[in-house]
Amino acid sequence: MTENGKKRSHPLIEHLAVEGIWKRLRDLKVRADSISGSRFFGALLLVLLVLLFVSGALMALYYSPIPGAAFDSVDFSQFSLPFGEVLRGIHHYSWNLLLIVMGLHVGRAFVFGAYKPPREMLWVSGVLLLLVVPLFAVTGDLLPWNQKGYWSTQVRLSIIASVPLVGEAIVRVLQGGPMTGIVALTRFYALHILFLPFAFLCLVAVHFHFISQRGLSEPLSSKPATRKTVPFFPIIVNRWLILFLLTTLILGLVARQWPADLGDPADPTDSAYVPKPEWWGLFLNQLVSLFRGPFSVIGTVVIPIGLAALMIALPFLDRKAERRPLRRSRVMLPAFIILSFLIGLSVMGYVEHFGVKGK
Ligand code: HEM
Repeated sequence: MTENGKKRSHPLIEHLAVEGIWKRLRDLKVRADSISGSRFFGALLLVLLVLLFVSGALMALYYSPIPGAAFDSVDFSQFSLPFGEVLRGIHHYSWNLLLIVMGLHVGRAFVFGAYKPPREMLWVSGVLLLLVVPLFAVTGDLLPWNQKGYWSTQVRLSIIASVPLVGEAIVRVLQGGPMTGIVALTRFYALHILFLPFAFLCLVAVHFHFISQRGLSEPLSSKPATRKTVPFFPIIVNRWLILFLLTTLILGLVARQWPADLGDPADPTDSAYVPKPEWWGLFLNQLVSLFRGPFSVIGTVVIPIGLAALMIALPFLDRKAERRPLRRSRVMLPAFIILSFLIGLSVMGYVEHFGVKGK
């Protein structure tokens, strides 16, 4: 018993002075449909995020951000250390899966109108997360200092440099000079492992703040009164841990079976090398190549910024309470047209780079 007659908590909880937090966590009840059905994507995103952070932190123990040593350091940690290929593979496959699951998570929130009041800012925090994601790809691709990463970076930097007024200044700041050399690699590394993860984690915390304050949207099929709740601790925590273990196991096995490609060391003199875009970059690549000369700004700035602005503004434009997708043709139809356009661009990009013409 304590001085005021209350029952004592576990000594560790008392030493850490977290009795209040522990009690709130123990008493917290959440909806039984959390981490189930289509609400599974948010929890899976969190699993992938943890895997990316842990595998990235472990790889950083062996990585050297110096052009002459970066490739060998990655090669050594992937192929000479025990489970090295599993570690790099988990980072590689978690990233690819994160993009797919993020697409499904956003798609679900859009189709079921989960962005509608009172969850406008929950959606906005999600869109901001979505905008930080490509920066991880831009900075991470250069780190192994291989041909693909080096030349993809050159393509991306030349696209950024073509942006009127600010493009060249951004490239100068990113590279720290006119060439992609040691300063550029150091800056990309610092951005990839420090600045971007920090910004991303802050945004995830904001996202969860809004989830806890505004709650999840009602399922379209059931009435609130019929919904059951379950204790967050241990039921939801255990479900998440099982999901974490299963995902780690599956991605670990995939990584062992199909190791992530490392390719050849970068050769900055080999300008004949043409990097093929990744599957997630196909539409952007195609968009940029559709508009040439004075119109290039449409593909590099106007359409991407327009789409981002439209996504941020969505909950403030579509304010009707109706959430059933078939009754929201005024938002579903334009979204369907935009999505078809992006998929069409991706298919064109695929045919160009990987089809018969692209060999
Ligand atoms: C790594 C990034 C993200 C993480 C870790 C994350 C995590 C979560 C989790 C755990 C939930 C609750 C369960 C669920 O509905 O799945 C959730 C809900 C939600 N998220 Fe995310 N999310 C991320 C990115 C995004 C993005 C990019 C958007 C939109 C652009 C978004 C919009 C929403 C919305 C609107 C809800 C509420 C769903 C509802 O009430 O039915 N999230 N998120």
